[in-house]
Amino acid sequence: MKKEEILSFARKNWVPVLRDRSADFLCEVVKKEKPKKILEIGTCLGYSGILMLENSQESFLVTVEKDVEKSREALQNFSQAGLLDRVEVINQDAMEVIQNLVKNEQKFDLIFLDGPKGQYVKYLPNLKQLLNRGGILFADDIYYHGLVKQGYPKHKHRTIVYRLREFIDLITNDKEFETFLFDIDDGFSLSYLK
Ligand SMILES: C[S@@+](CC[C@H](N)C(=O)[O-])C[C@H]1O[C@@H](n2cnc3c(N)ncnc32)[C@H](O)[C@@H]1O
Repeated sequence: MKKEEILSFARKNWVPVLRDRSADFLCEVVKKEKPKKILEIGTCLGYSGILMLENSQESFLVTVEKDVEKSREALQNFSQAGLLDRVEVINQDAMEVIQNLVKNEQKFDLIFLDGPKGQYVKYLPNLKQLLNRGGILFADDIYYHGLVKQGYPKHKHRTIVYRLREFIDLITNDKEFETFLFDIDDGFSLSYLK
């Protein structure tokens, strides 16, 4: 599928892909920063990955998706977009991949965090190690349908909301990061490693 088709398929079938204003913002970030290496957690169908690669010709993307079907479809979509030589799609659980990347001393200029929201806070220490100085961590959906900014969450959302609050607290209070929070779409944070 082309990226426009991915978007309309995703909207029709309730597949969660990057929303329009967040997508515009992410594209501006890659255009300006020209990251050489990007790590994406949560490939889905490759929509955000295609956007990032199309907006920065110098970038190589490592993208992680644990669902087999989605990673297969993403590969086809990257192929159709003519981007296969600039992307590695890893079909594995993100935590395992992140730990391996740390072990192998890999570094990235941009990390786009768009995987399981309840895991952001667990991933954070390792993601920090994976960033080059001056690198950027872009975390999507940090307000989780607005629930993170409201008071006491309902039982079924409680763990995820508390974990996202903890993530926001850590990332905004970490002196090694300069962090900006955006109340756009479902909320996202942009953190520069000093
Ligand atoms: C919000 S979607 C990503 C959307 C994509 N970045 C885009 O905008 O086109 C989140 C994705 O993370 C994947 N995911 C969930 N848990 C995961 C895990 N533990 N490891 C890797 N991927 C995971 C889901 O299967 C889903 O496709």
